[in-house]
Amino acid sequence: MAKSDVANSRSIDWMSNSLVKGLVALVAGGGSGIGEATSKVLAANGASVVVADRRKEPAERVASEIVRDGGAAIAVTMDVSAQNDIDSAIAETIATYGKLDILINSAGVIFPASLEDCSLDDWRTSFLVNVDAALILGRSCLPHLRKSNAAAIVNIASLAGGRGYPNGGAYGPSKAALISLTRQMALEWAKDGVRVNVVSPGTIDTPLTRSNMTPAVMADREAKIPLGRLGVAGELADTVVFLASPAASFITAQEVNCDGGLSQALMVQKFYANK
Ligand SMILES: NC(=O)c1ccc[n+]([C@@H]2O[C@H](COP(=O)([O-])OP(=O)(O)OC[C@H]3O[C@@H](n4cnc5c(N)ncnc54)[C@H](O)[C@@H]3O)[C@@H](O)[C@H]2O)c1
Repeated sequence: MAKSDVANSRSIDWMSNSLVKGLVALVAGGGSGIGEATSKVLAANGASVVVADRRKEPAERVASEIVRDGGAAIAVTMDVSAQNDIDSAIAETIATYGKLDILINSAGVIFPASLEDCSLDDWRTSFLVNVDAALILGRSCLPHLRKSNAAAIVNIASLAGGRGYPNGGAYGPSKAALISLTRQMALEWAKDGVRVNVVSPGTIDTPLTRSNMTPAVMADREAKIPLGRLGVAGELADTVVFLASPAASFITAQEVNCDGGLSQALMVQKFYANK
């Protein structure tokens, strides 16, 4: 069995877990990858989930798969950088489920380029989607989160927020800003009982990764990860859902790296941890 199959084959004991039972979650970027897996793990743990994505069809597919499997979910089309879309998504959440307890922000964009060559349009879009949107989304949800006694926000940043890499362009700088924004939100909104944390994935096997890395680059990255493989979306989802749940009730303003040890492995050509 391949190493990633081991991670993928972890069973989600559908609806028998209850980490977020009775809570309502809005998942931005819920139509694919980490956001999709997080939507499903939230539902499996008893939350009602609003799957929000800029792309309508993926959001609808994820919501219908959750409902098919016995969970509660609706889909909304929402561009995280558009205040109108956010307002409509929140209004639909309240109209359907009556409250909002959890906000997950997994929407993100990446435009690989050197700093010398990256276009200012791509730079600005990176900051608009990866940073500005987190602020707009967070403060738009705040009035509802304040009313919850289990309020939590989890943003998804990246290891790139703390380290440079070739052709990173605006991605790392924008994720660094998101990590800083998360701390600022957490400290300002602690008095409202709203916990805010950020998860930084290492390299996770998702559609985003596959569209940005050749198989050779993915294999090279895999060799540098102490656990000897890329992560899978379900592993990120479990980390995110833990932080979003009352099980993490004393954790706020933290960055959690979910990366197979990559962030702690300096100057490594190849790991043989699993051989
Ligand atoms: N996959 C990785 O290895 C990895 C590593 C580090 C960080 N991340 C971060 O994790 C998050 C999720 O990445 P993923 O790999 O699951 O990507 P993905 O492309 O599989 O999913 C991202 C989803 O966000 C949606 N989205 C993009 N822009 C949006 C917008 N403006 N408004 C609403 N939705 C939008 C997309 O339609 C897509 O469904 C991103 O923030 C990414 O930067 C991923």
